[in-house]
Formats: sequence, structure tokens, C-alpha cells
Amino acid sequence: MKTVAIIPAAGSGKRLKSKEKKPFVLLGGKPLIAYSLEALAAAKYINGIIIAVEAESIERLKEIINRYGFKKVIGIVKGGKTRTESVRNCFRAIDKPCDIVLIHDGARPFPETRTIRDSIRYAKKFGGCVAARPATDTIKLVDKNLFVERTLDRKYLWSAQTPQTFRYDILKKALSRIKGNLNMTDDACVLERLGKTVKILKSSARNIKVTTKEDLKIAEALI
Ligand code: CTP
Ligand code: MG
Repeated sequence: MKTVAIIPAAGSGKRLKSKEKKPFVLLGGKPLIAYSLEALAAAKYINGIIIAVEAESIERLKEIINRYGFKKVIGIVKGGKTRTESVRNCFRAIDKPCDIVLIHDGARPFPETRTIRDSIRYAKKFGGCVAARPATDTIKLVDKNLFVERTLDRKYLWSAQTPQTFRYDILKKALSRIKGNLNMTDDACVLERLGKTVKILKSSARNIKVTTKEDLKIAEALI
């Protein structure tokens, strides 16, 4: 079975408010993007990795890949205006059909080996799989004026993370159907719209996304 990993890392990092571009912000002395690359390169179930970054960051990324000797990188592409577009650009760079495509945020430095392995297994079995955490807060559904409509049952609420992993043919079909709406924060949305099965995989609390300066501090502490 052949699995290709896609890393969208072409965001503008607005919420991080750092001088350095988000993929290259240092975490424990190492660029943030090197962590997700390292974890995916070390996973023996992953055969190739394709990364999307902003056009002006391509050379810098190549330099990092050489410096750390990441071997499985088979493509570096220009990102798009939205995350979905960046994922689609990576998907198009897969040269011949594989079995499974695993998508993992460049801003999530600590995916566990177990999560990577099981998400591939679930994608094979169910078609799609999303790593997620059970909601810990009580979630309120509100109207546009911020008045509470109702309280959702927490038992059924999960926060989606990545990896989000799919069978190649299902993802291909889903991506080809989204011409109008290219702004989805979550890859599984495109499958849900096709009525395809997406299985939740409980991931670890360490699998955080670096979004703000505070997250960077939490990530430093986790190292
Ligand atoms: N991403 C991408 N292309 C985009 C937007 C986002 O590849 N046009 C990637 C980001 O680089 C990141 C992941 O999607 O690895 C999750 O996005 P997020 O955490 O929102 O990162 P940014 O979009 O960079 O940050 P912000 O929203 O604060 O600008
Ligand atoms: Mg963003």
C-alpha cells in the first residue's frame, strides 16, 4: 500500500504576529516546519511527502530539507490563497495514483506515530479519518447576535485536528467537486459533502497547532 503525505504550510501566520514567517519560526532552536516533516519522514508507512509553502519560501524550505536530510520529500509546491487550495496544489503534484493520502498541518509539530499509523489504517477501512480531541468545554450554538440558541451535547462534539487521511480516489473526487467553495479549514468537510464516511480517531493532547504566541510557548514547554 502506498501513502503520500501532504503538508500545507503556505499560510500567512497572521495570528502568530511574528517577524519570521511561521514555518521558519524557531521552536527549541529548530524551524517549526522541521517537526512535522521529521515526524512524517520517520513514519515507515509514508512513502513520499509533498509540501506547500508561499512562493518566496520555496528556496528556504529546500535549504532546511537539505540541512536536516529529510529523504522522503518528493515535491515542493506553491501554496494557494486558502488552505484548501494549498492542499489541492499538493494533491495535483502526486505524479501517479497512490492508495492513501494523509494531510497534516505544517503548524502541528507533534503528531504521534500511533496517530499517523492508525489514521492510515482507518482511511483504508472507512474511506476517511480525522484525528480529533473530545470537546472539553461546553459548546453553545448561538445566533448572529451572539444569543444562545441551545447547548450542544458534548458527548458528540470533537475538535478536529490533523492528520486527516483519505483514500486517494475518494479525496480526488471530493477535491474536484469544490470549485465554488475553496475555503475550508478542514479537509474532511469536502468528503462530508459527498456523503462519505469519515471516522474519528482520538489523538493525543500533545498534537497542538501553533496558532498564536501562547501556542509557541506551550510547544516549547512540551519539548
Ligand atoms: N495553510 C496553507 N495555505 C493557506 C492557509 C493555510 O497551506 N492559504 C496551512 C498553514 O500554513 C498551516 C495550516 O494550513 O500549516 C493550518 O492553518 P493555520 O494554523 O490557520 O495557519 P496560518 O493560516 O498560517 O495562520 P493564520 O490563520 O493565523 O494566518
Ligand atoms: Mg489560517
